[in-house]
Amino acid sequence: MPMPKVLVSDKLSETAVNIFRERGVDVDFEPSLGKDKEKLLSVIGQYDGLAVRSATKATAAIIEAGKNLKVIGRAGIGVDNIDIPAATAAGIVVMNTPYGNAITTAEHAIAMMFSLVRSIPQASASTHLGKWEKSAFMGTEVFGKTLGVIGCGNIGSIVADRAVGLKMRVIAFDPFLTEERAIELGVEKVDLDTLLSRADIVTLHTPLTDQTRNILSRDNLAKLKKGAYVVNCARGGLVDEDALKDLLDAGHLSGAALDVFATEPATEHPLFGHPKVIATPHLGASTSEAQENVAIQVAEQMADYLTRGAVSNA
Ligand code: MLT
Repeated sequence: MPMPKVLVSDKLSETAVNIFRERGVDVDFEPSLGKDKEKLLSVIGQYDGLAVRSATKATAAIIEAGKNLKVIGRAGIGVDNIDIPAATAAGIVVMNTPYGNAITTAEHAIAMMFSLVRSIPQASASTHLGKWEKSAFMGTEVFGKTLGVIGCGNIGSIVADRAVGLKMRVIAFDPFLTEERAIELGVEKVDLDTLLSRADIVTLHTPLTDQTRNILSRDNLAKLKKGAYVVNCARGGLVDEDALKDLLDAGHLSGAALDVFATEPATEHPLFGHPKVIATPHLGASTSEAQENVAIQVAEQMADYLTRGAVSNA
């Protein structure tokens, strides 16, 4: 039997390459191909597997051209850069790595929360300018505040755990969260309206699906308490960005911390430069530890599938 062949078309840790080889898979490491759609289309037919991070868009056209593809692996959690219906129709297994970057992403959400309520990015920029604006940056303590966690799965549950450690009250909306798990985590399971009416800070940790798209709609944002904060390190499409701007401008909301945007890469945005908004360029999973973890996991899973048909996280 010929050796299966995988293309790595995004910037994955090179540890993945070694794992593929050790497990009997031939691999081409071409991290710039993800941004070169035409080139990717012309070469994809040679491969049994495609390993991606975020830059590669595994569209229906790529999948159609990938006549030999058997598996697409995403080194990360979300698979929204892969056309799942097209892959399924073509009999291609799509895998993700749901655990490898969860701690890192949860830590980013907590970091964004603190940065937001203490205006750390704004204060840092001002101090670098030599302004010493000590009275301009009065912050808010998180101690005793209510954190509303929307989506209490792999990442949300770690955020909740860290927030409990910070002595916050944590309430969670997640239809899949059992009462037992909520008790174990030290959180109160609530419905969405209750969360919106009680949270001082809301943090989003759901995938983007038809059910969660726009979960913080204009109506729902308006249900938040006056002075509430919003943290989004999950997916841009979960929040109505225009409504968010309006409610920040109207003084209903105190601030928003955004790591993700409806359209990415986001190089222009109506919220950029807003004094109540802090922003990072989808850095949630960007630590060396997380990237190593997801690269190892995706390579192991894909190699196991291609060499012995073992399926995990599909
Ligand atoms: C993910 O889906 O795992 C995250 O959005 C992180 C990423 O890979 O950029």
